[in-house]
Amino acid sequence: MIRLCSPSELAEGQSRGFLVDSLALFLVRKEGTVYAYRNRCPHRGINLHWQTDVFLDDSASLIRCATHGALFLIDSGECVAGPCAGQVLQALPCQEDAQGIWLMPLDQTNEY
Ligand code: FES
Repeated sequence: MIRLCSPSELAEGQSRGFLVDSLALFLVRKEGTVYAYRNRCPHRGINLHWQTDVFLDDSASLIRCATHGALFLIDSGECVAGPCAGQVLQALPCQEDAQGIWLMPLDQTNEY
């Protein structure tokens, strides 16, 4: 497991980006639950964000790709609007405990 940050470093309604080895990913906290996704838009295969740690829309209720504005549900990663509607962000396994938010070992059969 790889420790990404402390629980207090990801407040409710916030997002935060990380680079682990060469894997770009981000975390979002919604209603207390932490979600982790690969930082890769299914539309063009590029990073979702332009500004550091900004992965959400203005209402902080959807994940947004900064390039063409695709919107994704936080809890499933499904694109609900934009050029890649119906596609999904790649979810990554993560876990939270009192010591931190952790990236779990990745399934080696998947390509990240
Ligand atoms: S690259 Fe994300 S919407 Fe086009």
